[in-house]
Amino acid sequence: MNATALESKPIWLEEPRPHFSSLKQDAHFDVVIIGGGITGMTAAWMLKQAGKTVALFEKGRIGDAETGHTTAHLTYVTDERLSRLVKNFGEETAQLVWQAGDLAIDTIEAIIHQYRLDCHFKRVPGFLHAALTKERDETSELVKEADLARKLGFEADFLASVPLVDRPGIRFANQACFHPIEYLSELARRIHGDGCEIHENCEISDFEEDPLAVLVNGCTVRCDRLVVATHVPMMGLTSLPSATFLQTKIAGYSTYAIGAKVPSGSLPHASFWDTDDPYYYLRIDPTTGKDYAILGGLDHKTGQHDNPETLYAELETVLRRLIPQAEVDHRWSGQVIEPVDGLPFIGPTNESQFVATGFSGNGMTFGTLAGVMACDWIIGRENRWKDVFDVHRTKVRGGALEYVKENVDYPLHLVTGFVRSPDAKSVDEVERGEGRIVKIDGKRCAVHRSAEGKLTACSAICTHMGCVVRWNGAEETWDCPCHGSRFGTDGHVIAGPAEKELEPVALA
Ligand SMILES: Cc1cc2nc3c(=O)[nH]c(=O)nc-3n(C[C@H](O)[C@H](O)[C@H](O)COP(=O)(O)OP(=O)(O)OC[C@H]3O[C@@H](n4cnc5c(N)ncnc54)[C@H](O)[C@@H]3O)c2cc1C
Ligand code: FES
Repeated sequence: MNATALESKPIWLEEPRPHFSSLKQDAHFDVVIIGGGITGMTAAWMLKQAGKTVALFEKGRIGDAETGHTTAHLTYVTDERLSRLVKNFGEETAQLVWQAGDLAIDTIEAIIHQYRLDCHFKRVPGFLHAALTKERDETSELVKEADLARKLGFEADFLASVPLVDRPGIRFANQACFHPIEYLSELARRIHGDGCEIHENCEISDFEEDPLAVLVNGCTVRCDRLVVATHVPMMGLTSLPSATFLQTKIAGYSTYAIGAKVPSGSLPHASFWDTDDPYYYLRIDPTTGKDYAILGGLDHKTGQHDNPETLYAELETVLRRLIPQAEVDHRWSGQVIEPVDGLPFIGPTNESQFVATGFSGNGMTFGTLAGVMACDWIIGRENRWKDVFDVHRTKVRGGALEYVKENVDYPLHLVTGFVRSPDAKSVDEVERGEGRIVKIDGKRCAVHRSAEGKLTACSAICTHMGCVVRWNGAEETWDCPCHGSRFGTDGHVIAGPAEKELEPVALA
């Protein structure tokens, strides 16, 4: 093992980001956007270019959430295999779905070039290759997949041996990578001003319908349209049955990444993904100023792994097998939202509100497309993808089994959470740096003791639909196994669908 210092955060978040003040007075804008990730920021950018006044509210700092935790491969190669898209939706739709990614990469590139944004954008090849950790012959499937991609108009070539991984695979030309936080920061600096505003530390929790407004920091912000770009959509103006129905069609999965310095000039600058499920994803490029490798994978349903810390060691073993000289210096995890039929949900939920979710591991491209689609919807421009990604689509083509599987989780984990014995008999058993479920006055509580010894306790009952949360030692968060809500050690919401914090519990 190398003795490199290890940072438990994404390498991207070491980049300085511009600060934006919180809102201090009532205001009126054409559009309010909730969420300062790639989806919200792209929507804000597009709408400003279209002449709209926009206010973007971010509850933390811009890029804090998944856009700061991504690995930022820009690709039209979707997590859902092309052959499966064709089988479930037909060739025309499958082609349209990949064209969405292509358009998103072109959009990002055009913005970067037009405004000379400094964010290390680079066109690289992307390789889809046979499983890294399994020995099985996938040649014929990969040949067929490459043929299909070419037939639908994409530049794809079968290779008997993909560079670096030495496995059969497909080379897709003209994919890309960039520094996601540099990109977001550059956009943000240009969005703020001339009638448009970005405000950080502004959590939206209340809405008014007529006239349309959001309430934030005691101020009322009126608007004509609302874009909910919170990764997992907040309910906002959606009715409870409608929001719950959308929730049954998506599921939160935790995914893990490690970053490592690698010898400069000796490895191909490219993106790699294997065919496994969950799949490994690797990028090698000089985006951080030196040749750097980021390997991700080992996804599991949020809140359903007993010991997530062990997954980093697994990733490191796989990376060292490929690049023995790799010096791992960063590790982090985040969440991807899996839609039941493999396609994202992007579009209006009613006449005033637009949402975007279910991006799988393609959120850089689908998030960008969602920004474009939100703008098109608001200015009344036709969009080719509006029916394909329609939020109200009810048919779960090819995903019926998946739908049932994902949704038995709720009753199952609701019950097991209450049947399982608490993790500790008393708060005294909770060690420093640890979180445990403890029964206090007959109620399950999420108790955390910080490295300094400070105890914090909250109710362990998820505020979404009542499941018992579980401790995630890799991220020091409380995660809900039912629909993937995540909470900080003090109970604040990190990721929805929960919108309310875990109730604080006073310790004697
Ligand atoms: C480890 C990892 C690797 C990935 N790799 C790739 C990849 O290689 N390629 C790819 O295309 N995608 C990848 N993804 C997926 C991609 O990163 C995400 O899908 C994408 O960043 C989502 O962007 P977003 O703007 O929709 O959400 P986010 O970036 O999560 O932004 C949503 C924002 O909304 C804010 N918010 C939430 N609630 C409120 C509220 N009430 N008020 C105000 N603000 C609020 C949050 O604080 C957050 O900043 C990866 C994800 C992970 C975790
Ligand atoms: S009960 Fe739904 S996320 Fe917790």
